[in-house]
Amino acid sequence: MTALLSLNQVHSYYGSAHILHGLGLQVHAGERVALIGRNGVGKTTVVNTILGLAQMKQGAIHFGSTPMARPRPYIAAQHGIVVVPQGRRIVANLTVEENLLLGAATGRKGPWTVPEIYKLFPILQERAHTPGTALSGGQQQMLAVGRALMANPGLILLDEPTEGLAPVIVDQLADIFNQVADQGTALLLIEQNLSLVVRVAHRFLAMAKGSVVAEGPVVNSPQGLQDIEEHVMV
Ligand SMILES: Nc1ncnc2c1ncn2[C@@H]1O[C@H](COP(=O)(O)OP(=O)(O)OP(=O)(O)O)[C@@H](O)[C@H]1O
Ligand SMILES: [Mg+2]
Repeated sequence: MTALLSLNQVHSYYGSAHILHGLGLQVHAGERVALIGRNGVGKTTVVNTILGLAQMKQGAIHFGSTPMARPRPYIAAQHGIVVVPQGRRIVANLTVEENLLLGAATGRKGPWTVPEIYKLFPILQERAHTPGTALSGGQQQMLAVGRALMANPGLILLDEPTEGLAPVIVDQLADIFNQVADQGTALLLIEQNLSLVVRVAHRFLAMAKGSVVAEGPVVNSPQGLQDIEEHVMV
């Protein structure tokens, strides 16, 4: 089966700064993959390379079977690959509902509509007409996830979605990610909270210095948690 997303021997740069060094990864339909690694190893640069915001100078990216010499955010979305960016990036002068509608810009058909997002996150319906940035951090993260779902994606890249959030909100988001994945959407979860990783992911990729240095299955148990912790310590 063709992967939804594949990166092969990718070298990527910001200007002359060489950040990704021969990175490879694949995500297939319905998979739940975690991308883990310490601060600054290049996790967000993987996302930025997929969106064309960091420059790939060597290697190959495919969205499905289509090679992407010059990826762009809207091209990724057209192929059903969407990003929940690190820091959420809610548009300040749009309401909650308008932020959600932005996610539907590609016009991809599928199960996710505004009413369905409101069923998943009732708080967003209550606050539908308030400015998106007036929400709490956790609610803004729910909005960012809802906005991504509105594109009816086959794959969502979540870049540190629980950074800075209270444990009770992290638990809610874990349930949501599992629900979304249970409905068939593949996840690439970039996360430093490894207890969340074991609750959501089935496979991990560990990065160090701009490439993937280890991979394996994820098991939701104390031992499974220890097994992946080692790979972030290096
Ligand atoms: N726009 C940029 N221009 C130049 N260098 C950058 C830029 N953005 C990030 N970097 C550098 O690239 C390296 C990888 O950064 P990146 O943001 O991909 O790491 P990360 O793994 O996502 O870290 P974190 O866990 O803190 O989010 C870092 O050394 C960072 O300083
Ligand atoms: Mg990052």
